[in-house]
Amino acid sequence: MSIISVLNPKGGCGKTTISTNLARALHDRGASVLIVDSDPPGSARDWHAANEDNPIELVVLDRPNNVKTLASMAANYDYVVINGAAKLEDMIAAAIKVSDFILIPVQPAPYDIWAASDLVDFIKARQEVTDGVPLAGFVVSRVVEGTRLGGDVRAALDEYALPVFDTTITQRQVYPQTASEGLTVFDADNVKAKAETTALIDEILAMIAPVVREVA
Ligand SMILES: Nc1ncnc2c1ncn2[C@@H]1O[C@H](COP(=O)(O)OP(=O)(O)O)[C@@H](O)[C@H]1O
Ligand SMILES: [Mg+2]
Repeated sequence: MSIISVLNPKGGCGKTTISTNLARALHDRGASVLIVDSDPPGSARDWHAANEDNPIELVVLDRPNNVKTLASMAANYDYVVINGAAKLEDMIAAAIKVSDFILIPVQPAPYDIWAASDLVDFIKARQEVTDGVPLAGFVVSRVVEGTRLGGDVRAALDEYALPVFDTTITQRQVYPQTASEGLTVFDADNVKAKAETTALIDEILAMIAPVVREVA
């Protein structure tokens, strides 16, 4: 059992998009997956409600105390994916505490990267008292196709001394198009979108393999 949080207080970096697509990628591999929406307004809950045949279970937990009780609920699933809240510090702190792994999507611009500073501090403070749990890593999100990541982006991310995944998520219409119907890129024909999402989940699973908890 693993709890994966997709966190970044900055809106628009792709948390909800990545949470829903990752959850579906895990489901398609035969895993039992629960999405926890900790950011209800206009978020994963709406995505879920847009498709009555959605194969993924979703629960809304919009109070930090509810998130704290997640561990027992999570025991019934192979993976819990927490769609992170914007700005609610208590929610983010609660998510960090229950997670095995934090995925931090960032847009490839220095201001967006600097805005992750408080989150990184939060995560590192937690890691210090727990022998390094949760693990954490960055994924650069909404990259314009055909552009290489600038050295300034890499340099800014390197300052945080957290891993940066090789896979990037590209800015593609297929993400909002599928989201609006409660679907994911795995329901569409865009081969590149499926490939990058698959590559990202492969990288995450390789990183978290040492901390996967046995299901009770
Ligand atoms: N890779 C992407 N390509 C195109 N549009 C995207 C991509 N990721 C997110 N978006 C769009 O950007 C907006 C913000 O994304 P969202 O996932 O809601 O971010 P967050 O949850 O961090 O606020 C949404 O309209 C979403 O459809
Ligand atoms: Mg969101």
